Amino acid sequence: MQSQLNKILEEAKAQLEKARTQAETDEIRVKILGKKGELTQILRGMGKLSPEERKETGQMANKVRSEVENMLNEKFEAVKKAAKEAQFKIEKIDVTEPGKSRTLGVKHPLTITMEEISKVFMNMGFSIVEGPEVETVFNNFDALNAGPNHPARDMTDTFYITEDVLLRTQTSPVQVRTLLKQDPPIKVISPGRCFRCDTPDATHSPMFHQIEGLVVDEGITMADLKGTLDSFAKQLFGPETKTKFRPHHFPFTEPSAEVDVSCFKCGGKGCRVCKGSGWIEILGCGMVHPNVLKVGGLDTEKYTGFAFGMGVERVAMLKYGVDDIRLFYENDMRFINQFK
Ligand code: DAH
Repeated sequence: MQSQLNKILEEAKAQLEKARTQAETDEIRVKILGKKGELTQILRGMGKLSPEERKETGQMANKVRSEVENMLNEKFEAVKKAAKEAQFKIEKIDVTEPGKSRTLGVKHPLTITMEEISKVFMNMGFSIVEGPEVETVFNNFDALNAGPNHPARDMTDTFYITEDVLLRTQTSPVQVRTLLKQDPPIKVISPGRCFRCDTPDATHSPMFHQIEGLVVDEGITMADLKGTLDSFAKQLFGPETKTKFRPHHFPFTEPSAEVDVSCFKCGGKGCRVCKGSGWIEILGCGMVHPNVLKVGGLDTEKYTGFAFGMGVERVAMLKYGVDDIRLFYENDMRFINQFK
């Protein structure tokens, strides 16, 4: 029995020498010290021995057990440490390696233009409101005094979704939403996307951007309209800029006008940008039609207002000398990167 114990000790030493993993170490532990382990079997068989033999063998068995346990624990710690070190090696990061270069994006020229225009109006006390791109026919046309027979309602110009719902053809329906939601004094602008059933060419796109403006209060006059838009033009195109108000027609304003600015390229002498006229048309405007104010439930004897709307693409094309509107939507980085 004692020689068996010695054999167990020798074998344990040899096997542990070879063990490389925590699992292998555990296997050896079970094989020797487990319920059916070699050493456990011997300890169980000791009952058959004489008292003297039992004492001697018992002492030796205990010694062997504690030795095996110590060896196992030592080995277990060693392989655990080795495994950790191997893991560290795999996970090692070389902080001196050159990083991946990331290119910083640039703002889209239309975003730049919209922000510039919005900033000018915000500095004059306007706040920004937004409206949905999917609109009701009522907000886009009827409430804006464009009745069922108005030419703008033609199917060829408008993307209808149902009989009563469309993709807004202008940002003007935000005027209606604002009048229904807010009491005067109203002083808002609303930038956003618009849609018209146009075939794309150098100056037309089925999707484009507008900025709408609406001011309503007691005692607002055409002089306020002219002063505001003249100041806006000077801030956007330079202090030398002159403005000209030409009579026009929009269903939702009366009187209505189109605004030309003196050409910022040639100063009014005539050049390619202004097509030799010295003037460039930039927006539509007018005094809000009483029928529109009535939609908001306002007393039209007490309240008056002005409104305006401009095409963002048009302003951006003029400002940056872009000769084809389609360049704005192609996302060619060689184009976009020029506006850094
Ligand atoms: N909604 C007009 C258009 O798309 C632009 C416009 C003109 C807006 C006059 C206005 C305005 O608010 O008063 O052509």
